[in-house]
Amino acid sequence: MKGFEYLQEELDSMKESGTFRSLVPLESEQGSRVVINGKEVIQLSSNNYLGLTSHPRLRKAALDAVEKYGAGTGSVRTIAGTFTMHEELEKKLADFKHTEASLVFQSGFTTNQGVLSAILSPEDVVISDELNHASIIDGIRLTKAARKVYKHVDMKDLERALLESKDYRKRLIVTDGVFSMDGNIAPLPEIVELAEKYDALIMVDDAHASGVLGKNGRGTVNHFGLDGRVHIQVGTLSKAIGVLGGYVASTKTLIDYLILKGRPFLFSTSHPPAVTMACIEAVNVLLEEPELIERLWDNTRFFKKGLQSLGFNTGKSQTPITPIIVGEEALSHHFSDRVLQYGVFAQGIAFPTVAKGMARVRTIVTAQHSKEELQEALNAFEKAGKELGII
Ligand SMILES: Cc1ncc(COP(=O)(O)O)c(C=O)c1O
Repeated sequence: MKGFEYLQEELDSMKESGTFRSLVPLESEQGSRVVINGKEVIQLSSNNYLGLTSHPRLRKAALDAVEKYGAGTGSVRTIAGTFTMHEELEKKLADFKHTEASLVFQSGFTTNQGVLSAILSPEDVVISDELNHASIIDGIRLTKAARKVYKHVDMKDLERALLESKDYRKRLIVTDGVFSMDGNIAPLPEIVELAEKYDALIMVDDAHASGVLGKNGRGTVNHFGLDGRVHIQVGTLSKAIGVLGGYVASTKTLIDYLILKGRPFLFSTSHPPAVTMACIEAVNVLLEEPELIERLWDNTRFFKKGLQSLGFNTGKSQTPITPIIVGEEALSHHFSDRVLQYGVFAQGIAFPTVAKGMARVRTIVTAQHSKEELQEALNAFEKAGKELGII
């Protein structure tokens, strides 16, 4: 069919410059090792921090839910798609995050879009870290509020933005809790101080911090002892929780408002029973098996130190997300392809996901990896890194 020649031209030029990427299908379940093209390789690209995607308790919860309630829910939440299990999950998440209430959306992505688009009007301003996740950026694009972007984790620049926006009805500061491409943690205590000084609201996206930081994985707010001082906590059910979805934890007022105004919540069908019940069980696992988080951090320390002592540039990572920054986009993809040949799956990431010249191979260890697997991965990175002149 004719019509898309202009898109094909762009794809062809990406192929020429070595920046075109195809999807990589997994032929096994998610885990510390996965099968790609018939070959078992070490998985270092997932967000399956605690290995919950295949945890026996989650599998059982999902299977039981299908047996008892079937495969789908048949409606959006506001019409006939709210089940008691949805409310049970929301109560559990609110208790977990030490907030009054929570609301589940179809994904972390739609949570950010739904919250930002609902609560901001032209008389408000949103003040956003320049490296916030795409879903925050897109959520901001959906609002008619004024926008200000502050330099990454730069508190002087945040204060400048606050001072420049005194005349708005509400100021909302929004930040990732853990930045997804660099693995650094937002300076929340300083952000809270500034927000309190200038009477601003704060929204933290803890997609990569829930299940990872704080007591039992409660996230960055709890990690810094700031419970009750951050207005909006967003989380995902798709990463450490191991299933699918997103949620916002906050006051009852905000949640009541989002039930009426959160567009992805209002206009998209609710989570199927298997997803909902598996998420409930995942929170139970976080509360009852804290050793998973300890193992995640033990592995993180081992692997990060290993990469650094080989001479790789791991940027400012402080969490299980450890980038290996190589600079050139094509080089990062070659590096990723080469380590795959040596038995390790770690994706190259380039512009527009990260700035030009900051392309990288991003690694994420999980609680499921053994030390032997991580050492094997380090050996593969060393070999490929030396061959490509990265180290
Ligand atoms: C910071 C951040 N927020 C939100 C999301 C989206 O979460 P989900 O995969 O549940 O849509 C991601 C996922 O990449 C993320 O890294």
